[in-house]
Amino acid sequence: MTLLRELTTADAPAVQRVYGSVAGRFAATTDPMGPAAAVAWTTYVLGQGRIRMPVRYSLAIDAGDGLIGLITLHRTTPDEAEIGYVLHRDARGRGYATGAVAEALTLAFTTLGVRSVRARHRPGNDASGRVLVRNGFMRTTSPDHYVRYVRRRERRLSG
Ligand SMILES: CC(C)(COP(=O)(O)OP(=O)(O)OC[C@H]1O[C@@H](n2cnc3c(N)ncnc32)[C@H](O)[C@@H]1OP(=O)(O)O)[C@@H](O)C(=O)NCCC(=O)NCCS
Repeated sequence: MTLLRELTTADAPAVQRVYGSVAGRFAATTDPMGPAAAVAWTTYVLGQGRIRMPVRYSLAIDAGDGLIGLITLHRTTPDEAEIGYVLHRDARGRGYATGAVAEALTLAFTTLGVRSVRARHRPGNDASGRVLVRNGFMRTTSPDHYVRYVRRRERRLSG
């Protein structure tokens, strides 16, 4: 099953529901995202997607019944991207984040052409850590309060 697809403007209400389900725990702000902010965010992200080499590439996680989460690849250097993801509370525990990160890695290493993808989560976010480890991410040293990871592109075998 393919989980990632491009966002559309019709996704704004679902984007609002996803961020509303994590406000205060994951989002940088404790303010829930309102309808106008959800439309503004979705429109902004769609505009970024039209840039040929986007700096920020956000995609919908959709298991066939509408948007249930979001995944973002943020290109930090020509060779590196950072990944972030969020799933609606009611859609967790079914492997969707693990599958969506796997698809996003393929995109990062092919379409974006980066050599490595970094990720981070807050200490105690064990579900996020599992998602990363299952996708081949390695823990790195962390000089701050985040738990940090890197996943390098696999070298092609020659011959
Ligand atoms: C992190 C998050 C994306 C995981 O989504 P998910 O779809 O439930 O993840 P999956 O079902 O693919 O897999 C989760 C893994 O974590 C495990 N897990 C789930 N809840 C857990 C918990 N509370 N403690 C430990 N492990 C947990 C699952 O068993 C599974 O591991 P397994 O495959 O080895 O059995 C989701 O919880 C979320 O959106 N959290 C808020 C946003 C966030 O923290 N984002 C990450 C920071 S960028």
